[in-house]
Amino acid sequence: MAQVEVVRDGAVLVRDGRIAAVGPYAEVRREAGGARVTEVDGVLFPGFVDAHTHAVFGMARLEDHERRALGKDYKTIAAEGGGILSSVRDTRTRTADELSDLTRRRLARLLAHGTTTVEVKSGYGLDLATELRQLEVIGALAEGPPRLVPTFLGAHEVPAEYRDRRAAYVALVIDEMLPAVVRQGIARYCDVFCEPGVFTVAEARRVLEAAGALGLGLKLHADELDGSGGAELAAELGAVSADHLAKASPAGIAALASSETVAVLLPGTMLFLGKGDRAPARALIDAGGAVALATDFNPGSSPGASLPLMATLGVSQLGMRPAEAVMAITVNGAAAAGEAGARGQIAPGFAADLALAAVRDWRELAYWYGMNLVAEVWVGGLPCHPREAALKFLV
Ligand code: NIG
Ligand code: FE
Repeated sequence: MAQVEVVRDGAVLVRDGRIAAVGPYAEVRREAGGARVTEVDGVLFPGFVDAHTHAVFGMARLEDHERRALGKDYKTIAAEGGGILSSVRDTRTRTADELSDLTRRRLARLLAHGTTTVEVKSGYGLDLATELRQLEVIGALAEGPPRLVPTFLGAHEVPAEYRDRRAAYVALVIDEMLPAVVRQGIARYCDVFCEPGVFTVAEARRVLEAAGALGLGLKLHADELDGSGGAELAAELGAVSADHLAKASPAGIAALASSETVAVLLPGTMLFLGKGDRAPARALIDAGGAVALATDFNPGSSPGASLPLMATLGVSQLGMRPAEAVMAITVNGAAAAGEAGARGQIAPGFAADLALAAVRDWRELAYWYGMNLVAEVWVGGLPCHPREAALKFLV
């Protein structure tokens, strides 16, 4: 992860939406024949891959934010009627058109910060119709830009109507929602919020095993707030990613490091929630694990769109080298989104998804923060002019 390859005075040859060649300008120019040339000045990165978002929702959660400032924590706010279930109540009232319009505006902000592929979860429906509606919205926007990878997160929380019947809700997810999602072919992954007070390791195991049997890939919200052994479960089940991990145990770190599962760390969440916990990026990397950084973009715990900011936090909060932070939002982000061979690298055969940063040294990407360095974005070789698209209200 600590090795990035930097080409100076380079060129990228794009053909049919894919990268055909990359290297020194003079060499690529010879190969390019009559190609149309676009000159750029700055550092061209692979388009960033955000491997963990909850981008389909209605309202902002402005009261939660103030309550937290006055000393209430995430779980207390949830118990008092805020939290995920307040977004669920709101999302259930929204039409597909409304959700689609809001999601498009928000994804435009991610794109404007250089993100060209986004994993997006359902999980603010928690009933069959609304979970399917969220996934249909993701499907309708999937071609982008940015391109989307859909994840079913019916086990994000136990909805109010099942509060005293949690086993019945887990059964609903397994017996009705999962088969319907798979029948419609509208999700690539299944995820569960595995956390004390939300879903236990045993419940998460049952949901993920059922999802795996139906052919879905697996992801897990693991060890975010208190920790319960989610990292070990994700590694054991061969999940593509284990996400959050701020409370992962030494055994969980070891299990992930010796597995193929990517650790997706979300430092924006800890920052926004005002928590001091740090995900064990250094320990994971030093033990041979693969680490990605993602925004967790959602209305409750991380309403932020910038992967370069996550790279800054990766360096300054999690002890990652700048090169590791860049890898974490490109190559490893793509791996955590199931796109390892297709996106996240400027290499022949990969999608021509590119982000130009107005910087002289690639390390500046993870250095300047709170300002958008991304000047231009291409998806499939086509320019997106993301800044104009981003100038829309978010709610
Ligand atoms: O990743 N942890 C669970 N889900 C989100 C929070 C969602 C919300 O608060 O609405 C997260 O932090
Ligand atoms: Fe999340």
